[in-house]
Amino acid sequence: MDIYLTRRDFLKRSTVVAGGMMLGTAAIGCAQATHPAPSPTTAAPVRFPSGFLWGVATSAYQIEGAVHEDGRGPSIWDTFSHTPGKIRDGSTGDIADDHYHRYAADLDLMQSLGVQSYRFSVAWPRILPEGTGAANQKGLDFYRRLVDGLHARNIQPMATLFHWDLPQALQDQGGWENREVAQRFADYADIVFQALGNGVSSWLTINEPKTIVQVGYIYGAHAPGISDPARAYVALHHLLLGHGLAVQAFHARFSGNDSQRIGIPLNLSPVYPADQSDGAKQAATLQDGIENRLYLDSILRGSYPTDVIESLGGVWPSSSVIQSGDLRIINTPIEQLGVNYYNPIVVAAGPQTVSGVYPTSVATWESIYPAGLYDLLTRLKHDYGDLPLYITENGAPYQDTLSANGTVDDPQRHQYIHDHLLAANRAVQAGVNLRGYHVWSLLDNFEWAEGYTQRWGIVYIDYDTLRRYPKQTALWYREVIRNNGF
Ligand code: GCO
Repeated sequence: MDIYLTRRDFLKRSTVVAGGMMLGTAAIGCAQATHPAPSPTTAAPVRFPSGFLWGVATSAYQIEGAVHEDGRGPSIWDTFSHTPGKIRDGSTGDIADDHYHRYAADLDLMQSLGVQSYRFSVAWPRILPEGTGAANQKGLDFYRRLVDGLHARNIQPMATLFHWDLPQALQDQGGWENREVAQRFADYADIVFQALGNGVSSWLTINEPKTIVQVGYIYGAHAPGISDPARAYVALHHLLLGHGLAVQAFHARFSGNDSQRIGIPLNLSPVYPADQSDGAKQAATLQDGIENRLYLDSILRGSYPTDVIESLGGVWPSSSVIQSGDLRIINTPIEQLGVNYYNPIVVAAGPQTVSGVYPTSVATWESIYPAGLYDLLTRLKHDYGDLPLYITENGAPYQDTLSANGTVDDPQRHQYIHDHLLAANRAVQAGVNLRGYHVWSLLDNFEWAEGYTQRWGIVYIDYDTLRRYPKQTALWYREVIRNNGF
């Protein structure tokens, strides 16, 4: 298999997979990747279908800062980042990119790059500082200004309702382990639908439930910092239930309005066996269940994959958690699916483990594999049908440096995005209903447990001055957008 390996060691994707069960973690840090030789320049121009939406993505806690402003309440990420030892460089999102104050300049920047779609997230603790109750008008006003500012610049908003910043008050009531939080999420979502629905028509519910489950509740390396697989899968069920309830609230509010679409952004990875042995193949199938089918089957087919349930055994929640009727709610039809793609997973045969976290290093793989995106997209079409797909995140961190004349040369990121767009284009040629692409991320930002040690932006942030500098990739991306290809 044509996987080229690199060292992209960021905690949540440093997977060590043994025996077809997830999750362990190996080296941490942002090593500079040894990039493979550039792929041969394609002779024929690469063009995307007309109307293909070119975008960039961010999330609230990672860029906004202003954590005490305008009535915002604390989130689990405030608590977590302020807990010593949790964030690699000891940093927090208190200031981050100061986007809360600089949003207008950031919108200008997007406009200057020709961006057509902006995927951002709404911070629940700005809207409901305690997680429930009456809306905080000042919080809603911020997103209203943002949405109006996007329209003024001809950029379509794509709003994510929850990108991990759960109000701390709800965590104090059990967080996602508490079934009621699923309903609280739908209530919050409906407040946002009502307030912003006349400016936003593309919505996403819960960003990457898998990362919350795996990294927040099994590794404990993200908020809320729990390391307990049994609790993780309870949280999983309630996250998906919250998604379904929010989709129902959405349809109730916008019934008959065909321009409104909602979906969920999932981080999906094709899983490959490390060799052709039966053991590796079985391990890969089960790992695919853990990584992909757990989410895709429940949301799009209304059932949890039985092989995963069986292998998790006593760790899988009982019927007091997964109540009758829940899967029907989770399976409420959606109008779009967000795909966050970073890398594939390669699995070697190994001892079967029981519960989830087993860093018994059988194999570690960190890879950049654009063809994995093609495999993933065509598989989604094959197994789940023609639901409109949006790539809602794709990108890579490198140790970019700002030159004296204010330029940032980032050839590896350029290559990464180029190669993934090529793969996405091949998938479109193969009939995949792919409607748009969003780079992760617009700006360098607070990369969760990695703090500011990783730069994912196409725009460089000087954290001393908070000035923004488009990297070479941003300038190239502007041409891609202009030409609807390259
Ligand atoms: C995720 C999140 C983003 C990350 C990005 C880089 O995928 O984890 O949606 O918030 O910053 O993926 O790791």
